[in-house]
Amino acid sequence: MQAGNGTILSIRDLRKAFGGLVAVRDISFDIPEGRIFGLIGPNGSGKTTVLNLITAELSADSGSILFEGREMVGRQSFEVCRARIARTFQLVRVLPYMTTRENVMLGRMFGSAPTSPAQAAQDADALLERVGMAGRADLVASQLTYIDQKRIELARALATHPKLLLLDEWLAGLNPSELRIGIDLIRQICQDGVTIVMIEHVMEAIRALCDRVAVMNAGDKIAEGTPASVLSDPEVMHAYLGADDAAA
Ligand SMILES: Nc1ncnc2c1ncn2[C@@H]1O[C@H](COP(=O)(O)OP(=O)(O)O)[C@@H](O)[C@H]1O
Ligand SMILES: [Mg+2]
Repeated sequence: MQAGNGTILSIRDLRKAFGGLVAVRDISFDIPEGRIFGLIGPNGSGKTTVLNLITAELSADSGSILFEGREMVGRQSFEVCRARIARTFQLVRVLPYMTTRENVMLGRMFGSAPTSPAQAAQDADALLERVGMAGRADLVASQLTYIDQKRIELARALATHPKLLLLDEWLAGLNPSELRIGIDLIRQICQDGVTIVMIEHVMEAIRALCDRVAVMNAGDKIAEGTPASVLSDPEVMHAYLGADDAAA
């Protein structure tokens, strides 16, 4: 992992409630630049909500999200994209009637560094090759497997030229050989200079990739540190064992 130059994203006292349910309760953490940060915790602990707040799919009730020193709370999703933050979704969101190439072109044409359609098509093909989809650019997205749709989403996110990439369980559902390829791909993206925040239940990947991990439980951050220290923390183990999706 390449050395970071400080903090790229700084979250302070971030809060979001849905009616009476506090999904994210005044949490704070710093994401070091140039590294891979893990966000883990049982189902329903508030991880995806944190990503939705960062990308402005949801608006925060209170707190601050500073990206490269600029406040993101109160902005809209397209502004967050232009600030060079990109994401993938836990439940994939490809445009089903477009081809694989067209899906990725959208990221290039409407992201932080818009280009002509011809250039976007060329870049899309290069990104598709990078995520293991060479030769499938002309297939319609809805005809592809779930894993391939996840690959399209990753290529589309990369097409926007992110400095910060947010992955929501991107490795979930991969078989062991796909998992190894996926871990290598995420490591390579980071080595190319993209800071990554990954929500993940696959602890093998967290251990292999992350320098730092924050653990959420029922809206609270209950631990933060290296994967080794956090995964041996009794409170963390209790949070997982008390849930129905104990860590793999
Ligand atoms: N848009 C929403 N409206 C109402 N409740 C929500 C919404 N999004 C998430 N929640 C609730 O917030 C809690 C945290 O959800 P989520 O952030 O998806 O958890 P995780 O990603 O850790 O599994 C859950 O109880 C979930 O049901
Ligand atoms: Mg989630």
